Amino acid sequence: MNTNKYSFYFIYTGLISLLLGLICGLLAGFQYIVPSFFKEILPFSALRPLHTFFVVSWILLSAIGGIYYYIKPIHTKPIKNHFWLFVATGVGIIISYCTKNFAGKEYLEFPSYFYFPIVLGWILFGVNYFKTMKPSFKSWPVYYWMWATGIVLMIYHFTEAHLWLLPYFREHFIQNISLQWKSGGSYVGSWNMLVYGTSLYVMSKINNSNSYATSNKAFFFYFLGLTNLMFGWAHHIYIVPTAPWLRYLAYGISMTEWIILFSIIYDWKKSLSNERKIKYLLAYRLMILADFWVFLNIILALLISIPSINLFTHGTHITVAHSMGTTIGINTLILLSSIAYIIDTENKFTLISEKRIALGIRIFNISFLLFWICLLFMGIKKGYWTFFSNLESFSQFQYALHWSYILFVAFGFGIFVGLYIIVFEYIKNIQSILKNKIGS
Ligand code: HEM
Repeated sequence: MNTNKYSFYFIYTGLISLLLGLICGLLAGFQYIVPSFFKEILPFSALRPLHTFFVVSWILLSAIGGIYYYIKPIHTKPIKNHFWLFVATGVGIIISYCTKNFAGKEYLEFPSYFYFPIVLGWILFGVNYFKTMKPSFKSWPVYYWMWATGIVLMIYHFTEAHLWLLPYFREHFIQNISLQWKSGGSYVGSWNMLVYGTSLYVMSKINNSNSYATSNKAFFFYFLGLTNLMFGWAHHIYIVPTAPWLRYLAYGISMTEWIILFSIIYDWKKSLSNERKIKYLLAYRLMILADFWVFLNIILALLISIPSINLFTHGTHITVAHSMGTTIGINTLILLSSIAYIIDTENKFTLISEKRIALGIRIFNISFLLFWICLLFMGIKKGYWTFFSNLESFSQFQYALHWSYILFVAFGFGIFVGLYIIVFEYIKNIQSILKNKIGS
């Protein structure tokens, strides 16, 4: 068979990253309650980058592993090189964070020389992708376009995110900060291309039909996603004095993409036969749950994109609810659905495994909903304190939120338990696939 074990290694490493990310998130959350907790070893300033590094690695590694698995590249050597390059770079970045060797900008706080191996990994991925997919180029369904675009634009925007190293950008504050958010927003858009492409691929396969992925609606969604990727970032910098048209444009288009994604999953659900739903039950359930979270996130995002509300929510936990709401509720659920589909295709889940995962999904979803509401509550409190409460000091305000922090960590622990159950079952199944089918 043409299944490369490295596609599973990518997914496996992604799942481990997810667990490590959850542990760092919990430790960081615990420092809200007891600021001195673990501080000597890893302060919040190191735990937060470690947490975001691990969870972003989870998203990228599992998306990449899935794409390698789905397209089955002819050349397997570059996949091996790509994998080990990313693992070695990841270890280097973890060491940098643990030794508090920071450089760079928010979310990319590692020393800038790590740019080179990361970009090389993406180039290896891109060359392999285009070589494999070139023969079928003329009849590509939308998901192949999304993956191709995601890879190319990831290389471009990741490079752009490092332009601040050049004096022209570093020395001009407005250009510098605008470029930081432009590139940051756009490379999140690029990984969304990889993840949403994955969701369309999995939905097509579960449905056993490509009619959706070749439909006008799907291509409209693709172009809309691309427009968002290019311009949607500007809603991050409303408060920076850039050209006004940029802000109007960003506001106008920044929400459209998700509305279409929501409607595509909704239509797919309606068109699916019971037989196909049962055949890929877990992948189906996780995808439907992602749709629910797309819906909740649309409402929040629509609200916080209104400039006068954005002024109030900017820099509060409402922004964190938006970023965690989308990375957990949409990206993570779609990727878990993709892995469930891969496992079911290779090595049907046992009934016990299926039941355990279903329990994990339930624990995860309830905890996540409460966690998200808690973040919104904390954000509203902070916005109120910033603008309307001029008598209360910051320490008094922090003290008043003590119980919210405790609840935040308790619900975070629920997310950890739910996801741990799912990840544990996935890892067991992947190990058995690797052992039985690929002989690794
Ligand atoms: C799949 C699981 C998770 C994902 C994808 C995720 C993602 C993220 C992202 C993207 C951020 C950056 C937010 C921003 O800059 O606006 C963040 C921050 C954070 N996350 Fe998570 N997260 C996950 C689970 C958790 C859990 C279980 C906890 C436990 C309490 C947690 C605690 C935190 C904390 C404390 C921060 C820092 C917020 C701040 O700056 O005050 N995360 N997470």
